[in-house]
Amino acid sequence: DFPVVTIPVYVHVIYNNSQENISDAQINSQIAVLNKDFRLTNGDASLVPSEFSGNAADTQIQFSLTGITRKFSTRAEWGTRDDMKKSSQGGVDPIDPANYLNIWICNIGGGILGYAQFPGGSATTDGVVIAAPYFGTEGYVSAPFDLGRTATHEVGHYLNLRHIWGDGRCRQDDFVNDTPASDRSNYGCPSYPTTHCKSNDMTMNYMDYTNDACMYMFTNGQKLRMRAVLESGGARASLAL
Ligand code: ARG
Ligand code: ZN
Ligand code: CA
Repeated sequence: DFPVVTIPVYVHVIYNNSQENISDAQINSQIAVLNKDFRLTNGDASLVPSEFSGNAADTQIQFSLTGITRKFSTRAEWGTRDDMKKSSQGGVDPIDPANYLNIWICNIGGGILGYAQFPGGSATTDGVVIAAPYFGTEGYVSAPFDLGRTATHEVGHYLNLRHIWGDGRCRQDDFVNDTPASDRSNYGCPSYPTTHCKSNDMTMNYMDYTNDACMYMFTNGQKLRMRAVLESGGARASLAL
């Protein structure tokens, strides 16, 4: 099996009001969720239906918080064009992104919970952005996205995972062999089974669009895809040193 890999994390809080200046406790609550979800120690893993229980993976990837930066900004909304990652635009530059996962916390706007950069992109914009109310499980959080699963989902993208439905029709792949085909995202808290493309959707996968309380697994195939970018020769191998 694989060795456990620990990814060091910097969190950059960019706030326009005191609520958005989230507490260290809120940040730590998110790191704890990432560690549970990626190590399959999340309590709700027991809810995985038996059809999929053999697919649920301990990715053997974990996270440790290295540091927190904080910056007040007069800007109330940052959008998705990476300005929050640039000091030249009033944001905060990433710290050594080859060796650290950088996470920016700021108001994105447009109803967007978070977004991520896939492996292979520019170092200057590398990392994950999450809006404050969807980061962590305590403090300034907002249901039904108050269980820290936005970061789990976005870090999945950062480690090369696609959405579970492949962002297309039934034949559009997510390049993972143990996730069932689907032609759509699911929302809310779907009842099991929810069937599309002649198979039951894995609506409880972190890479679907369901509520935080209704997503609780990665698969073995997703684990392989994430581990591949962290291993020797992978696009994020330097994170795992
Ligand atoms: N990028 C997605 C969005 O902003 C994140 C979805 C995360 N889903 C969740 N249940 N936390 O809509
Ligand atoms: Zn996504
Ligand atoms: Ca698949």
